Amino acid sequence: MARKKIKRIGVITGGGDCPGLNAAIRAVVRSAIGRHQWEVTGFLDGYEGLVEDRWTPLTSDRMAGLLTRGGTILGTSNRADPFRYNINTAGKGTNRVKDLLRTVHRHNIDALVVIGGDGTLTSAAKLHKMGLPVVGIPKTIDNDLQGTDVTIGFDSALTIATESIDRLHTTAEAHHRVMVVEVMGRYAGWIALRSGIAGGGDVILIPEIPYDPKCVNDAIEARLRRGRRFSIVVVAEGAHPKKGQMMVERIEKSSPDPIRLGGIGKFVAQELAFAGYDSRVNTLGHLQRGGMPTAFDRWTATLFGAKAIEALAAGKTGVMIAVQHGEIKTPTLAQAVKKLNCVDPKGFEVRATMATGTSFGT
Ligand code: F6P
Repeated sequence: MARKKIKRIGVITGGGDCPGLNAAIRAVVRSAIGRHQWEVTGFLDGYEGLVEDRWTPLTSDRMAGLLTRGGTILGTSNRADPFRYNINTAGKGTNRVKDLLRTVHRHNIDALVVIGGDGTLTSAAKLHKMGLPVVGIPKTIDNDLQGTDVTIGFDSALTIATESIDRLHTTAEAHHRVMVVEVMGRYAGWIALRSGIAGGGDVILIPEIPYDPKCVNDAIEARLRRGRRFSIVVVAEGAHPKKGQMMVERIEKSSPDPIRLGGIGKFVAQELAFAGYDSRVNTLGHLQRGGMPTAFDRWTATLFGAKAIEALAAGKTGVMIAVQHGEIKTPTLAQAVKKLNCVDPKGFEVRATMATGTSFGT
């Protein structure tokens, strides 16, 4: 059967925002219009816009100035799952896929570009299975999606975290303190690991390697013996002691993914204070998601956006745009969302970090 010729596509950004989303929208819109004369409709606030029929026309002119702008001009939501919409306090939501499909047909949308992380792309994979032509673009500061070496936003978050560690270094050194810095990342330790490497963290605690508080103290003590009177401890929000659980900061009852982690940085700083160290905690929080994307994220977002359109033009749907070993690839959405991409505790990156003198609290 002949493929339906694409005339108009829809685009959404879903889940937590990150730097580089606008650069991706710009690349999608400019390539769709410039190369194929397709029309592009932006739906607002992730899947909400599709379910509730809220939208805006996207033109090439409207893309001016977007490459460097943080956030997303389309808005986003990390609550809207069309399969479980308006989740109530009992955790139950309504299936609003029919409404979503109605919007798609009303606007004569031939294919959707979904820019999102794990949750948003999981719904995209289900929609594709139901027959909707979808291409996914991976974004998340957590870098936790399978099938791609990088996600849009990760490099910007990493840069902010590294710059913060650099700044904490000088004040830690001046006051002879242990500076604990808690970074985001959910169940993956990528931001902590890489900012810890780049910022010269003395201890890095990540969810993939449960830590022993005694080993953290030993690492700081060993530095003191070498005359290093300050230390930097980088803690991923999902890190936890060997004999303990991840720390939940709050439960967002209306979210399909309700657990929000946080507080482990404070806990580690308290443990250090009990052990007699002058410690301070800094939680970077949403600073890691705000502001201008780095050059790398602008570059990735542009390539991903253009590739999404190239894939659609070639009749490829149900795929996610990815970088694998330096090449742009298109694994299936189903493969990409099967499980999270976490740090390999035995992998070279961890071994290299240990070899250069950093402790994982083990
Ligand atoms: O997934 C991105 C992320 O920033 C995580 O690192 C963090 O745990 C979570 O989102 C925070 O979510 P919210 O925006 O609901 O505070």
